[in-house]
Amino acid sequence: MKLVVDTPERIAELAAQQYVDLISAKPNAVLGFATGSTPLDLYAELVRQNRAGAVSFRHVTTFNLDEYLDMGGEQEQSYRYFMNKSLFEHIDIAMERTFLPAGELLENGDPASYDRLIESVGGIDVQLLGIGHNGHIGFNEPGTPFGTLTHVAELAESTVLANARFFDSMDEVPRVAATMGIKSVMNARSIIMVILGSAKAEIAKAALQGPVTEAVPASVLQLHPSVTWYVDHEAAKLL
Ligand code: PGA
Repeated sequence: MKLVVDTPERIAELAAQQYVDLISAKPNAVLGFATGSTPLDLYAELVRQNRAGAVSFRHVTTFNLDEYLDMGGEQEQSYRYFMNKSLFEHIDIAMERTFLPAGELLENGDPASYDRLIESVGGIDVQLLGIGHNGHIGFNEPGTPFGTLTHVAELAESTVLANARFFDSMDEVPRVAATMGIKSVMNARSIIMVILGSAKAEIAKAALQGPVTEAVPASVLQLHPSVTWYVDHEAAKLL
């Protein structure tokens, strides 16, 4: 495990450099992406590097962690929309090789087919993660067994509240979503976890230095052989 404590700006640069290095060594790399506020600076940096000619995404394949069910990609709150607007539309990526779990679910009704699709292209080289205030990764809420593959998950009440900022009313906030499972995440060859802000200080400590427990889903990463934790100074203040 590697721990990097720095400013949010520098973290975005360092994490972006990991992608640039990976893709220059392996142009058809398989990338696992995440949504939320945390990766926005990193995505902006990847766009900048792509425009500067430092990296090309032409041959990569991407898999996002999660997606709301029954929400089309044209809907602003969907994670497809988020990815298109914050990254995919601004880089030279082949849209047909960008995947989010809901689409595959709708096609064949079997969530774990997402894991098979990932496997069929050789597995994820680097999976990007943020962390929820309750320690969730993707929509794997506390108590999710470590052995789960992609599945439909019920969102914790605290997650529904955190997501409400993107919706006009509480009634509109989805209660279920498709998410890669903990095992799906652990199957990635390497992982980048980004934790920003003082509100994440306690969960950063629990995830990094607390016991490995299903009560703190991100704590499972302590068992992964290749994780880089990028934690800003505020989120690292209890470490
Ligand atoms: P955030 O979400 O980046 O918006 O804080 C992270 C998460 O809930 O996984």
